[in-house]
Amino acid sequence: MIAKTFQGLEEVLAKELTELGANNIAIGNRMVSFTGDKALMYKANFHLRTAIRVLKPFKHFRASSADEVYDICRKIAWEKFMSFSSSFAVDAVVNSVEFTHSKFVAYRVKDAIVDYFRDKEGERPNVCVANPDIIFHIHISNEDCSLSLDSSGESLHMRGYRQETMEAPLNEALAAGMILLTGWHGECDFIDPMCGSGTLPIEAALIARGMAPGLFRSRYAFEKWPDFDADLFEGIYNDDSGERPLQCRIYGYDKDAKAILTAKRNAKAAGLLDSIEFNVRDVKDFQTVTEKSVMVTNPPYGERLKEGDIPLLYETLGERLKHAFMGSEAWVICNHYEYFDKIGLKPSAKIPLYNGALACEFRKYEIFGGKYDKFRSDGEKLNKENSAERRGKTLRHKAAQAEKLQQKEDAEKPRRPFRKAEDGEKSRRPFRRTEDGEKPRTPRNGGKGRPADHRDGNRSRSFSRKSDNNRK
Ligand SMILES: C[S@@+](CC[C@H](N)C(=O)[O-])C[C@H]1O[C@@H](n2cnc3c(N)ncnc32)[C@H](O)[C@@H]1O
Repeated sequence: MIAKTFQGLEEVLAKELTELGANNIAIGNRMVSFTGDKALMYKANFHLRTAIRVLKPFKHFRASSADEVYDICRKIAWEKFMSFSSSFAVDAVVNSVEFTHSKFVAYRVKDAIVDYFRDKEGERPNVCVANPDIIFHIHISNEDCSLSLDSSGESLHMRGYRQETMEAPLNEALAAGMILLTGWHGECDFIDPMCGSGTLPIEAALIARGMAPGLFRSRYAFEKWPDFDADLFEGIYNDDSGERPLQCRIYGYDKDAKAILTAKRNAKAAGLLDSIEFNVRDVKDFQTVTEKSVMVTNPPYGERLKEGDIPLLYETLGERLKHAFMGSEAWVICNHYEYFDKIGLKPSAKIPLYNGALACEFRKYEIFGGKYDKFRSDGEKLNKENSAERRGKTLRHKAAQAEKLQQKEDAEKPRRPFRKAEDGEKSRRPFRRTEDGEKPRTPRNGGKGRPADHRDGNRSRSFSRKSDNNRK
């Protein structure tokens, strides 16, 4: 199988796959390949935080033109994957001088499938872009073509908890990847002082509590496959053995009251309102932390958000880090070197990452307490240790810029509309398998719900996985 991700998150994804029990893991460009059984494919979709889709390749061939692709596809026994009554779509990613238009390749594969069924069954399946039953994916690199089934459907970054967004929200898979890159899993406090719609604190809470990012999704493409094993997936969905109580505090601040309201709505939809402390606060008022903390933040870059004085904001952030964040570490993502310079601290790591189409760096600042001499010598030591790694990554960053167009494709698929939680309604868990006449999901724990699990010991989570006929 192939799990696709964003440039710069491949190693984090490979680690996630190792922890899930995948075999033969190999890191590629914006993807990690692996082997495993059907259960692993379901788990990969449900548990991976940094994957945006999981593909199951079924045919590799060589071709040098779209017509040749058509001829080969025309001979595939498509009834193994779908029937003529299924709707389907074809996605194409092309990186080749022979094939210049990915859309044209996708059309030719669609033509081949339609013509195959028309000849064999006398009926043609529906091509459906918005909500197809089956999604095929063709990847062409030079003349090497791979056809896959897309087991995810909608990109996996669309967790399902997002009720509203502010401007420039982080992609959820990128946010999770940034947090995992810091090595944080909930061991100490977590702070995002410019949290916008709350993506980083929410992903942090999911990580710290060991909650699967797929809990809130209503649908995976593999559920429409002819070999879908509902009981197997139900077992995976209802297994909460990896979940744990929160052992730290998670804070989200923003100067914009509307952003904090949005963040709270999103956290409520994820059943995490009790796990995160959201407050309206300007960075300039950031107060001294008393516990060791990790800060991960995505300040405005001045690209999409037309904010006031952006250089001054970075300067203020640097000043607050120096004076109010001693003994802790901060990670900042931005695409302007001059804004990083305004922070006025030496980074101990620089990781190239893309935020959408923007080539960014994710920089780490370790704020040492104690004497300036020690601070300097530690900083220099860190600097030397990381310089070779950074040189390699900078080159990789430059090479990556040439490929950024491809990366946008997965992230920018249209979002499915979802129902908003009504006032007073407990956050919903929109998963359902109960279309009319289908077997309802077996509730975990004999339907008794789940134990109180907040660290103060008297709050229960605000969503449950009990089957609920209203969740349609
Ligand atoms: C790029 S957005 C963050 C988006 C967020 N990561 C998300 O996923 O929604 C930057 C945020 O910084 C906030 N901001 C800008 N200046 C600020 C300041 N001085 N203090 C606190 N927040 C600030 C903006 O209101 C905005 O919500």
